[in-house]
Amino acid sequence: MVKICCIGAGYVGGPTMAVIALKCPKIEVAVVDISVSRIAAWNGDQLPIYEPGLEDVVKQCRGRNLFFSTDIENHVAEADIVFVSVNTPTKTQGLGAGKAADLTYWESAARMIADVSKSNKIVVEKSTVPVKTAEAIEKILTHNSREIKYQILSNPEFLAEGTAIQDLFNPDRVLIGGRETPEGQKAIQALKDVYAHWVPEDRIITTNLWSAELSKLAANAFLAQRISSVNAMSALCEATGADVTQVSHAIGKDTRIGPRFLNSSVGFGGSCFQKDILNLVYICECNGLTEVANYWKQVIKVNDYQKNRFVNRIVSSMFNTVSGKKIAILGFAFKKDTGDTRETPAIDVCKGLLGDKAKLSIYDPQVTEDQIQRDLSMKKFDWDHPIHLQPMSPPASKQVNVVWDAYQAAKDAHGVCILTEWDEFKTLDYQKIFDNMRKPAYIFDGRNILDVAKLREIGFIVYSIGKPLDPWHKDTLAVA
Ligand code: NAD
Ligand code: UDX
Repeated sequence: MVKICCIGAGYVGGPTMAVIALKCPKIEVAVVDISVSRIAAWNGDQLPIYEPGLEDVVKQCRGRNLFFSTDIENHVAEADIVFVSVNTPTKTQGLGAGKAADLTYWESAARMIADVSKSNKIVVEKSTVPVKTAEAIEKILTHNSREIKYQILSNPEFLAEGTAIQDLFNPDRVLIGGRETPEGQKAIQALKDVYAHWVPEDRIITTNLWSAELSKLAANAFLAQRISSVNAMSALCEATGADVTQVSHAIGKDTRIGPRFLNSSVGFGGSCFQKDILNLVYICECNGLTEVANYWKQVIKVNDYQKNRFVNRIVSSMFNTVSGKKIAILGFAFKKDTGDTRETPAIDVCKGLLGDKAKLSIYDPQVTEDQIQRDLSMKKFDWDHPIHLQPMSPPASKQVNVVWDAYQAAKDAHGVCILTEWDEFKTLDYQKIFDNMRKPAYIFDGRNILDVAKLREIGFIVYSIGKPLDPWHKDTLAVA
């Protein structure tokens, strides 16, 4: 029986290993983590992450061939294949701060593997890492072990949150990079055999190590670049009277462009896009490729511009001040169907409004008050360091009120902002919301999910990203 151990029981380690355990009943899978509370949650009724379909998969194999544990050393020692799926955040201090990946957690996992191993192992990079990380890991392992042989593979994960289980069941591709030696090829085959339980062979791609590592950063950069491109167009649409939804539809019909990932929004969020592009930029700079670095930097600049533009639009349309005004924030997660708030655009929008002294009433169906207060009090990049796992509650801000109902959030508000595209926001009773708001009543749709014409009929002043502007907003442009 093959034994797999995965270090890191987070958004990637948990779901990925649960699906491997489900699809390969003869493989024993242990997921280990230093966070005692996270492992307890994986073993309890309330899983630590919200992901459609995940609970069902976990319930089918937990205790059968899927185990969650804090006994890291024993499980690593016993495993044939060790996945490393720890966080690789942006460095906050020292060389490369604000750009380079912080590999502290990766390195400590590698050193621990070297310390406890008693048999040969395949070590799989599941985390997203800079190109050439495999070489560094190889050095740590070989310089610290006696007689034991390691093969390092790069097997980056492409799942998206909110659709993780679907993505894992039916991946566009599985990518495995390894050494071009006979031992390296043997290790690739061993990992291929695991995925071959459910992934068609033509979707399992093999490459050399550096191509696999770089492909992950490249895929995220390309995806984020599409969003920044469409968001840049949204600003031009507002200036010209074009409608970004129509433009996206028209260009997406070109099969060379394709229709997906062309939704204009208040900005992309999530733990990956910004972090991985910054990492790519840093690698380009280290290799003297300034123009290439600047090209990718622009994707992030446009994303920041989009978030700022949204805040400025709100403030300028409300007579250039939101001081003391109540603004309802509907949606705080970085996208629908997840409770994850890492790098959510809601943080920047809320901080922008708080900076102008607004009072916020926030509702998200999956995000707790504690999480929201923590996010709004945390410094940039601090969220992805293990401190975020500690249950520390910051003092609640007097300007921020978190509620459990969209209608309550909007009651007596001057404006409503849609920041996450949760389905339930499409079917709210907007007449009821309008009746209970201060007038003029504003709606700012940062996800383009609402029927603008209907809202205008009710009496709202509506701003929807990249859509033709109300005369009201055109008039206030001069003020902005
Ligand atoms: P996460 O923060 O949810 O999980 C990482 C876990 O690793 C944490 O629970 C942490 O306690 C644990 N950990 C850290 N150091 C450890 C150690 N030495 N020993 C044991 N456990 C340790 O992060 P995530 O979202 O699962 O991301 C993990 C990696 O996967 C990152 O490199 C990320 O870029 C990449 N990735 C993430 C996604 C995504 O959608 N979240 C998708 C693809 C790739
Ligand atoms: C992303 C990649 O899609 C995935 O392959 C990788 O493994 C991890 O990073 P994730 O961040 O979970 O996944 O979600 P994704 O669906 O890519 O959305 C990222 C952000 O872009 C969200 O804030 C989303 O709302 C935004 N987005 C997405 C848009 O603004 N417009 C779009 O058309 C698509």
